[in-house]
Amino acid sequence: MSENQKEANLPIAPFPKNVVMSGIRPTGMIHLGNYFGAIRNYVRMQDNFECYFMVADLHSLTTHPDTSLLKNQVKRVIAENIACGLDPEKASFYCQSHVRETGELYLYLNMLAYKGELEKTVTFKDKVRQHPENVNAGLLTYPVLQTADIILHRASHVPVGKDQEQHLEMARNFVVRFNHRYGTVFPEPHAFNFDQELIKVPGLDGTGKMSKSENAYSTLYFGDDNDLIRKKVMKAKTDSGPTEPNSPMPDYIENIFQLMSLVSSDDVIKKYKSDYDNCSIRYGDMKKQLAEDMVQFMAPIRQKTNDLLANDEYLVKVMKDGAEKAGNSARKTMELVRNAMGLNYF
Ligand code: TRP
Repeated sequence: MSENQKEANLPIAPFPKNVVMSGIRPTGMIHLGNYFGAIRNYVRMQDNFECYFMVADLHSLTTHPDTSLLKNQVKRVIAENIACGLDPEKASFYCQSHVRETGELYLYLNMLAYKGELEKTVTFKDKVRQHPENVNAGLLTYPVLQTADIILHRASHVPVGKDQEQHLEMARNFVVRFNHRYGTVFPEPHAFNFDQELIKVPGLDGTGKMSKSENAYSTLYFGDDNDLIRKKVMKAKTDSGPTEPNSPMPDYIENIFQLMSLVSSDDVIKKYKSDYDNCSIRYGDMKKQLAEDMVQFMAPIRQKTNDLLANDEYLVKVMKDGAEKAGNSARKTMELVRNAMGLNYF
């Protein structure tokens, strides 16, 4: 690359168009919130973009050094995501640890990341609070590894939730620093979601949203059997019902309608909405209906997941194919990186 090119900030090689990359932590089972918040978005993107979806098994070592459960968890996440519609033929679906170039890029990026900014990261501070006995350097440089994941494919579009905003901002800073120092290799990655508005999946206890860490009874996991799904839905908070026509809805009732809107038919929703408005609503019936519609929606995904988990050969093939596709993309990028950095002595 000429000095002129560097000065003009021209890309060393044209940026690939609209590459999508995201990582999925292999800790815990996926739930309804993951489905509507993330996976459904991935499934739509895979038809329109070059997509890389990765199981972040190395990231999980920062907090879960015991790897004895990891193998099964990795396979479960892969099976669950495929059961939800992710298609390994369309997207590259791979494990972080199978693409060794990630480690190399992470090393280079670590020289561009400052201790001060890493220590200020909100997720780092949270982890320090939760695990004061294991504040390791991997935890500190978690956002650096995440940046390596993303830019290894020169991706610009990163479908993630709000909680990852700061990591993406840091990724952009590392990219700007790299490009400035060594030449413009990487596009700046941004959070990207297919829908403008992210779908909210409220918890069943009337507060907050469904999430792994919240009270397990408020979250519907795809691993839950039908009876557990019914039990959880029936326990959702209600009251004795409105006494005045067209009353405003309390949050916890609105949440039940919101959950219905995800899995029930329009007719069903209309019926309960009008029952609410004319004060004839029976929440017991409404929850029974929601429970059945939820079972209808979730049971086939659970079944598909179990079928996939029983087919180890297939899961291994998915991992190998994914590693190959992601590896090809990674090797191309690392050529550019080493050349730009001048790590090419012969
Ligand atoms: N840190 C992300 C999370 O906690 C997971 C992740 C790892 C990721 N690497 C990534 C997300 C790359 C987007 C892009 O959910």
